[in-house]
Amino acid sequence: MNVLVTGGAGYIGSHTVLCLLNEGYHVIVLDNLCNSSVEAIKRVEQLTQQSVTFIEGDVCNKQHLENVFTKHKVDCVIHFAALKAVGESALQPLKYHHNNVSGSINLLSCMAKHQVNQFIFSSSATVYGEQNPYPYIETMPLGTPSSPYGTTKMIVERVLEDNNKANVDFKAISLRYFNPIGAHPSGEIGEDPSGIPNNLLPFVAQVAVGKREKLTVFGDDYPTPDGTCLRDYLHVMDLAEGHVAALNWLKQQTTLDEVAVFNLGTGTGTSVLNIIRAFETETGKPVPYEVANRREGDLPAFWANADKAKQVLKWQAKRDINAMMQDTWRWQSNNPDGYSK
Ligand code: NAD
Ligand code: WQD
Repeated sequence: MNVLVTGGAGYIGSHTVLCLLNEGYHVIVLDNLCNSSVEAIKRVEQLTQQSVTFIEGDVCNKQHLENVFTKHKVDCVIHFAALKAVGESALQPLKYHHNNVSGSINLLSCMAKHQVNQFIFSSSATVYGEQNPYPYIETMPLGTPSSPYGTTKMIVERVLEDNNKANVDFKAISLRYFNPIGAHPSGEIGEDPSGIPNNLLPFVAQVAVGKREKLTVFGDDYPTPDGTCLRDYLHVMDLAEGHVAALNWLKQQTTLDEVAVFNLGTGTGTSVLNIIRAFETETGKPVPYEVANRREGDLPAFWANADKAKQVLKWQAKRDINAMMQDTWRWQSNNPDGYSK
């Protein structure tokens, strides 16, 4: 079975490509490398001793897509390609809507033309918005996301629902990720943010490796046990395996009456301070930090109800916070400058 993975050179995509290859899938990666390096694909090939068909191209470019679908027989698409910087999306919303929404519509249109009907979408817990109480469960209505980035994820989920109603052959899954962290245990592939990291773990790791002086903890006056926010941190290898479980399930379904939605999370929340402590304990590296004001748009706490994925996909996260810290550190310390060294 041939799987087209858009954004497959990125953080979650590269780990998923590795798991797909190990499961015997043939993988074609389409990535414009706007936030990644082809080195990630080379390392995946080394780790798996298998080859990937890599195409440098853009989902916003209809001709690039047409070339891929004309040249390759595609059975299923896993669509990671997107811009994901929450803060930037507030400053440049049109860039995000163009890339994430228009890019997805181009891709779905090209799939329809070439009668490719299996689709797995990288959605996010952010689609639950501020209104829904945690833990988030898939039966809750879509909320109002706190950023244009989140809005793009919500819109694409809705586009998939409409496309599903109009085409009986179309089978789609929206996977709502919580907070993926960690790296492949080899330390060969991992998260390689460009510039100043937006997310907690890459920042912690860069402080520990000496690239940044200290971490800023955004607020310690939240109504949580230690005053810092709680999130559902999930090992990226568990998340990658979740995609394989989703694909294995999707191909067994003859039809889907509606888009299948699954939370991919652990079902527990961990505070920012507990992350810092766990990182220090597991790595022996101090993480100096200072507490500052809250970051706009941050919710005090959320985590997943992860029962549906367990029951239906037979998937559950199995790696703990300690493994997440060890693997983050192995990647960061082996590759202090990411893939560019
Ligand atoms: P990433 O930036 O590492 O990967 C995205 C990849 O898509 C990159 O390789 C980038 O070059 C590529 N890309 C972007 N726009 C493209 C385009 N127009 N055409 C072709 N390639 C393009 O990000 P990631 O963390 O691996 O995230 C993957 C997906 O998961 C994204 O859709 C993201 O929104 C979603 N997601 C991520 C998180 C997270 O915390 N990392 C959480 C929830 C959802
Ligand atoms: C986690 C916690 C911060 C950095 C984001 C997106 C979400 C999803 C995952 C894509 C929060 C605190 C962080 C720092 C800190 N992405 N923090 N100092 O905001 O839960 O989720 O990534 O879909 O849509 O919003 O993740 O890693 O940015 O923050 O104190 O330097 O760490 O305040 O409590 P977040 P994060």
